[in-house]
Amino acid sequence: MKNPTSIGPAQVSPIGTTLERHLLDRQRRMPEATGDFTGLFQQISLAAKIIGSRVSKAGLSGILGRTGTTNVQGEQVQKLDDFANSTIVSTVEAGGHVCVMGSEEVEEPIQIPSQYPQGKYVLQFDPLDGSGNIDINASIGTIFSIHRRLTPDGEPGTLKDLLQPGIDIVAAGYVVYGSSNMLVYSTGDQVDGFTYDPGVGEFFLSHPNIKVPQRGGIYSINEGNYHSWDKGIQSWVDWIKTPTQSKKAYRLRYIGAMVADLHRTLLRGGVFVYPPDDKNANGKLRLLYEASPMAFLVEAAGGVASDGKNRILTIQPKELHQRTPVFMGSPDDVADVLRFANA
Ligand code: AHG
Ligand code: MN
Ligand code: MN
Repeated sequence: MKNPTSIGPAQVSPIGTTLERHLLDRQRRMPEATGDFTGLFQQISLAAKIIGSRVSKAGLSGILGRTGTTNVQGEQVQKLDDFANSTIVSTVEAGGHVCVMGSEEVEEPIQIPSQYPQGKYVLQFDPLDGSGNIDINASIGTIFSIHRRLTPDGEPGTLKDLLQPGIDIVAAGYVVYGSSNMLVYSTGDQVDGFTYDPGVGEFFLSHPNIKVPQRGGIYSINEGNYHSWDKGIQSWVDWIKTPTQSKKAYRLRYIGAMVADLHRTLLRGGVFVYPPDDKNANGKLRLLYEASPMAFLVEAAGGVASDGKNRILTIQPKELHQRTPVFMGSPDDVADVLRFANA
């Protein structure tokens, strides 16, 4: 009989790579790692499973619709925004890995209750991105980023810990609740995507080392705002949808959830833009928990993420809920739009 040990270590695992295994492999490659990061990530992944489960039953569980309140951005809060926010806070706060959190849905920094240890990381998140899509069963997402704390260990974290530029992100990711649920994350070296298997209750590696194509064929922008834009953005949109001898017309795709629009952009290429308009000098998207984490992922996948002039990752934040214009995606496509925008 053949010795079963002779098959050797190159054998592909029959169960695939779970997110947990991926994180543990990463931890073992870093001798100085304490397991804190892996622990925090496991709590984020648990929150993603809970939110994903609730999202998939949204029409059944009486959780569609609005709460009747508005958030710090002046936007209508959906019940699922609230649910997702408190799910993340309550799965993470007791873990001892973070010292403060920042959320789209909460005006001030979220402190860790004094009965729990104050950890060394800082978590920021958009609990539910694209919440206007909830009631029509279209894709939505969660966005997050992790920084190291700046304030002394052991003390409660402060606003200073939250106001850090994207270049200092330790890890960022998103969850897209779509035709399947996926968690995509990066620690800066590469971007890996995991698809949720609801039968098993785990995320499995399905999209290793995602690379954004150098150029795509899709542009993604809310063209209904055309008459509110500067001439430069208007001429770019006129140009990109006009076929010429040297190029085909680009296709327009706009889901209206940044996570879903950028997920497509990472996989297929193209460009996602939310420019300034005549009412919002900095556009709509928030720097700390939307633009910065997504810029971190786009750059790690070989793409470009600009605010129109500079890398989004180099912006020094001044306020928790500040906004920034966003031009992200395939390097050649971002170069095209910036040429028009800055002409
Ligand atoms: P949120 O639901 O977290 O407030 O984010 C919605 C954002 C973003 O996901 C999307 O790209 C953008 O709003 C769409 O805005 P418009 O409807 O103005 O196009
Ligand atoms: Mn959002
Ligand atoms: Mn949101």
